[in-house]
Amino acid sequence: MASQWEPLLGTADIAEPEVREWVFVENQARALFSRYGYGELRTPVIERTDVFVRGLGDETDVVKKEMYTFEDRGGRSVTLRPEGTAGVMRAIANQGLAEGEERRVFYMGPMFRGERPAAGRRRQFHQVGVEAVGRAAPLLDAECIAMLLHFLEEVGIADGELLVNSRGTADDRPAAAAALKEHFTPHLAGLCEDCRRRFETNVWRMLDCKVEGCQEAIRGAPAIMDLLGAESKAYFAAVCACLDGLKVPYRVDPRLVRGLDYYEHTVFEVVHSGLGAQNALAGGGRYALFLPGSDRPVRGVGFAAGLERLLLARASLGQAAAGTPGMDVFLVSLGERALAASQLLAAELRHAGLRVLAETTGRSMKAQMRAADRVRARYTLIRGDNELDGGTVLCKAMADGVQTPVAAGEVAAWLLARLMSG
Ligand code: HAM
Repeated sequence: MASQWEPLLGTADIAEPEVREWVFVENQARALFSRYGYGELRTPVIERTDVFVRGLGDETDVVKKEMYTFEDRGGRSVTLRPEGTAGVMRAIANQGLAEGEERRVFYMGPMFRGERPAAGRRRQFHQVGVEAVGRAAPLLDAECIAMLLHFLEEVGIADGELLVNSRGTADDRPAAAAALKEHFTPHLAGLCEDCRRRFETNVWRMLDCKVEGCQEAIRGAPAIMDLLGAESKAYFAAVCACLDGLKVPYRVDPRLVRGLDYYEHTVFEVVHSGLGAQNALAGGGRYALFLPGSDRPVRGVGFAAGLERLLLARASLGQAAAGTPGMDVFLVSLGERALAASQLLAAELRHAGLRVLAETTGRSMKAQMRAADRVRARYTLIRGDNELDGGTVLCKAMADGVQTPVAAGEVAAWLLARLMSG
């Protein structure tokens, strides 16, 4: 039976040493995105519900079935963010974006979707994402995609597969939707309930269905590209030419539609073989996102990668960040006077840059030495009344057991000289 202290289903505590993997990936993201001119933006994890309903589309699975929505104390409907783009667009609109101005932001943090938990699928998961807002150009889309692959390389994942496609624009949709409906009509009776609903509400989403019994009908569907107008086809061809120019390998997946309704033109995903069924490491595209109360969309291009999945892919490749380092020093204190004096010495050593733990409760010598072993201390500093009276500290190197008495005022320099030299 699950312990009462376990975190909620689909959520996780992230502790040492695993947390080092997280910090490594987050640091790589920060360093890399800033090289491309992106600055960090932190938005609240909670937003007014209509930011997502209007932003992502009320027919998307995320909005229909997966949002953590509740009434706050003032009776307003609020939602834990299921993704980052809508909140980022709200924040940018709130700051104001001049005509023709470009804004490049990246973000990272927890997202919430009430999905059935599985390997690589959580209810609280974490994304690192970027958005380049305000301009539309094939070169910008290609640069964004190339940056995603560069980021994956920086975190040790060089073997993801990039899939690209186009969703066209709002102008293309009525004719394309009609063609898809025509294709699916004779198959409807044999399709899943979700597909039959999507047939009425948003036929594109049928292409994204994962149910086994629906795959044959989906495989036979017309390629989206063939249903788009000349302008959208030209835009996509230009994006592909830019990717070729950047020597970015990709595969056009004619049925890639993505799960959110704000996309137009370019859509892309990176899948990885080390992930199992939830094989999308990252996804994104160009979008026109509507905010509540506005009928002019905010346009941009971006992507988000799932941190949990990045770590699973890294693990499948045998990549691992350096483990938790041990402590430099453990201060063993025998008697009340030594306990007090050692707190001061510990503070001095920490100010000198060392990683220091000091005994706080006055356990036996044996128990304190065991504690020093547990934290993998490289030196143990031992003091009792004799050392205090003599003004010395007994410094024991744990690697070879050699003990050296050192004058109390010189301990920091003595340790630094040894720890820095290896
Ligand atoms: P998304 O495809 O819904 O796109 O999510 C992006 C990534 O988040 C996925 O590829 C996956 O790695 C991770 N992810 C999604 N759901 C879960 C989950 N339940 N558990 C673990 N990982 C998950 C977006 O969210 C868009 N906002 C991306 C974007 C940014 N498009 C344009 N700009």
